Amino acid sequence: MKEVDLQDNHDLLTPAEIKSGLQTKVLGQHLYCYATIDSTNEAAKRAALAGALEGTVIVAEEQKQGKGRLGRYWYSPSSQGLWFSLVLRPPLKPTEASQITFVSAVAVCKALRSLTGLPLKLKWPNDLLYENKKIGGILTESSAEMDGINYLVVGIGININQQKNDFPTEIKEKASSLFMASGRLWQRAGILVKILQEYEKEYEKLLIKGFEETLLDWREFNTTLGQEIVVTTKEESFNGIAENINENGSLLVRRESGEIEVLLAGDVTLRRQERY
Ligand code: BTN
Repeated sequence: MKEVDLQDNHDLLTPAEIKSGLQTKVLGQHLYCYATIDSTNEAAKRAALAGALEGTVIVAEEQKQGKGRLGRYWYSPSSQGLWFSLVLRPPLKPTEASQITFVSAVAVCKALRSLTGLPLKLKWPNDLLYENKKIGGILTESSAEMDGINYLVVGIGININQQKNDFPTEIKEKASSLFMASGRLWQRAGILVKILQEYEKEYEKLLIKGFEETLLDWREFNTTLGQEIVVTTKEESFNGIAENINENGSLLVRRESGEIEVLLAGDVTLRRQERY
């Protein structure tokens, strides 16, 4: 693929650019844009603790300490991707917080499919894939009491305009971007607006109609169910078949012994695919 110059893309990620297209009631109505930050999830947690309202969005051009799931580092270079976090205060029980992870994955997948026309897929619980390479990821962090959620921070990272050689060697073969998948550059403000609009619809749907509706969409986009997988948890790594998702979003995995494992968290790799 030929080299392209991002300077030619006039890709501004400013409050004015984002707000000019935004048609939401709540999401993004309080919006903070940073040139450089440690991690938008950390900033969103600080904001939530200081009383930030539902729907507050923190976005950064670059993260110096971008965080991935399971304590991993999330590569977040300047100007090439969308790195943002939402503060939510859903009226859900703490045990239902994982539902928001699925809402997030479905909303991002729908928004990007509709904008780009690419057949993007989801890997449990919420990796965004194109042809089995990772284009985006979601990290949800929560603060809850026994009887309710104080706040959730949903951090979303999407590789937008990277070329293959922009990625560090460790992830070069496993990562992709919208540019690599579609052959054209994208303007990040427009993508963020579309995601926030889709997210608001999916979030309202969850709160009104319940989790089953969200799971229906997730099932349609998922690439995990029915597959031979390798599961890696803090304790162990084992092979199995991804059989189903239960009402909490846990993955039901049939081990080689036939026993069913209920997986609340962990990392799933389709066999013959490397982890990112
Ligand atoms: C994953 O490991 O797949 C989750 C990656 C989540 C990355 C995003 S980028 C914006 C937000 N801030 C962070 O530090 N992480 C999330």
